[in-house]
Formats: sequence, C-alpha cells, structure tokens
Amino acid sequence: VSLRPFNTFGLDVKARLFARFASTDELRGLLALPEVQQAEKLILGGGSNLLFTQDFDGVVLKNEIRGLEVVSQDDDSALVRAGAGESWHGMVQFTLDNELNGIENLSLIPGTVGAAPLQNIGAYGAELKDTFDHLEALELATGHVRTFTATECGFGYRESVFKGPLKNQYVVTGLVLRLHRRAQPNVSYGAIQTTLEDMGIGGEPTPRQVSEAVMHIRRSKLPDPTQIGNAGSFFKNPEVSQAKFDELQAQHPGIPGYPVPGGVKVPAGWLIEQCGWKGQRRGAHGVHDKQALVLVNHGGAQGQDIRELAYDIIASVREKFGIELHPEVNIL
Ligand code: EPU
Repeated sequence: VSLRPFNTFGLDVKARLFARFASTDELRGLLALPEVQQAEKLILGGGSNLLFTQDFDGVVLKNEIRGLEVVSQDDDSALVRAGAGESWHGMVQFTLDNELNGIENLSLIPGTVGAAPLQNIGAYGAELKDTFDHLEALELATGHVRTFTATECGFGYRESVFKGPLKNQYVVTGLVLRLHRRAQPNVSYGAIQTTLEDMGIGGEPTPRQVSEAVMHIRRSKLPDPTQIGNAGSFFKNPEVSQAKFDELQAQHPGIPGYPVPGGVKVPAGWLIEQCGWKGQRRGAHGVHDKQALVLVNHGGAQGQDIRELAYDIIASVREKFGIELHPEVNIL
C-alpha cells in the first residue's frame, strides 16, 4: 500500500499492511489478528509530523475514530470531547462555533486530534496543555482503555510521555479539553497584534478574529502541505544557558532569544537562515523560502535525501554556533 496520501511530506513509500479503525472495538479486532500481532505497528493520524526514509515493513493502523461533542458545561467553562481521528483544525472550528474559547491560537495546525497531545502542539503563545483536561488511550499490549491526566501525560515543549517512556505503547482514542465560555484572547505574540491591526480590528478581538489572524500568519509563512510537501517545523527551537547566550550575543549581536526557565530559547529558523540555508534547493527538496525551520518536498523527493539535508543543517549550525539542533518530526 502506498503511504503517499497519508504523509504530508508526500513521500511515496509503501507499508506491508494497512488498515483503518473507526472505534476502539475495531482497533481491538485488528490487534487480535495474528498478522497484526506479529508485525511492527505504526499508528497514523494525519501523517503531518513524520518523515519516512524507507518502506515500512509492518502494519500501519490509521486512526479514524470520529466524534465532536460538548460533554458538559457550567457558567465558566465547558468540556469538549473529540475522537482522535478528527482533524485538529476541525476541533478548533467546532469550539468557535459553540462560542468556546482557548484554542483559537492553535488554528490551522495540520494533523489529527489524537496526534496533538503526543507532542503537546503549540503556536502563537498557546500550547495544548493549557486547555487539556484528559485523554483516553488504548494500551496496545492489553487492549484496555485508560485515561491520562495532564500530569500523567508529562507535557513539555513538543514533548509528552507518549514520545518518551510510553512510546508506541498506547493509542490515543479520545481527547477532552476544558474551554472557556468567556473570551480571553491571547495576543501576546507580536505578529497577532500587527495582523489584527492590518485587519482593521482595534480593541479586544473576538476569538474568531484571533483565529483568522493566526490563519493569515500561518498561510503567509508556512507552506500548505496540499501544495508543497512538508511537516511544519522540522527542528525544535533549542535552549541554551544564559552564559552561552551572552557569549553568542557578543559574536552575533542580532541573535534573537526568549527567556525560559533555566536559560534562553533561540529560534532555530534564525540559526538556519544565518547559515545560508533559507530557500536553498537540492533538486526536489529544500528549505522553505519564507521559514527556514521548514523542510520541503517540491515533488518527487526521497525521504533519505530530506534526512541528509537535515543532518547537513544540524552540522552547519553546530559548527557556526556550537548549538545542537534536534528534529521535531518523527523520522522513520
Ligand atoms: N526566524 C528567522 N528566520 C526564519 C524563521 C524564523 O530569523 O527563517 C526567527 C525570527 O527572529 C522570528 C523567530 O525566528 O521572529 C520566530 O519565528 P516564527 O514566529 O516563525 O516561529 P518559530 O519559532 O520559527 C515556532 C513553532 C511553530 C509555530 C511558531 C509560532 C517550534 C519548533 N516551532 O516556530 O510550530 O507555528 O513558533 O508560534 O517551536 C510546528 O511545530 O510545526 C510549527 C510550525
């Protein structure tokens, strides 16, 4: 089975076996099949954070569990539940349609609801963990479904236990967020403010307007995966100590940095651009011309070539700045 329609890099790799499930019972049924039990398993959502560098000699199980509902509400907040196979942006739209607020800054992030907690998706001053209530996940080994609280998920910057100690052990089946009934727009991110001004919106914006501003910013910087293959930010933004940052600033006075507990976070896009990579092209793949953190497949690229480009970028940033970049996408 070709996985090309199932990964946003648009890489034409094959899986030995492929199946979809639309409920936890269907997933249990698949897991009981001998050929599935013996095979290596890959649970797929939107395929928007994956780089396939070779064919997958196992079974790909595509999560298509649907459902969007407001499960309860009080005067201040509401709990919204989504099946893991729903699109993340669809969940954002559903909450806005129901006048519930809190994830508008996470508009237009590609991928599914189920993938969102794995890397604690974040953008424009908000992270999934800010509105997270709990999730439901099925344990592959036993078929049992259990819930995880935020603490149990171990959220960090683009991190959770599902990328660490519990990697490949659970399948997220449902996500429940606690959203606010009162608008609490988060416009701390400079580009949101300037975009709202450009849109002619003065005073306090509505969550819908914040969502529109975010969509506008994303469309201007990030390539649309239906047009140009990509998986969003390829690397995480690295953190350095304050001492290291002071040293870097002495050598590179323009270096941007944001204070975080224990040090300074430096935008990887800036480091990569300084090394001359922005807009570079190697045949069918390259570095996006509007955001150096994004690697792109212009059509027909191979995953190994994109991985090689990533390693060359890591090496040049290491050499110029003494900083180690780490991939944010899952390389398979
Ligand atoms: N910058 C450059 N050149 C570039 C790109 C960025 O100099 O080519 C510098 C600029 O100083 C800019 C700063 O980096 O002000 C920040 O850039 P941007 O606002 O585009 O954000 P980012 O740090 O590059 C992160 C997330 C994005 C998220 C944006 C907005 C990570 C790995 N990436 O990117 O997330 O949308 O912030 O909040 O943290 C994703 O994870 O796939 C993703 C797109």
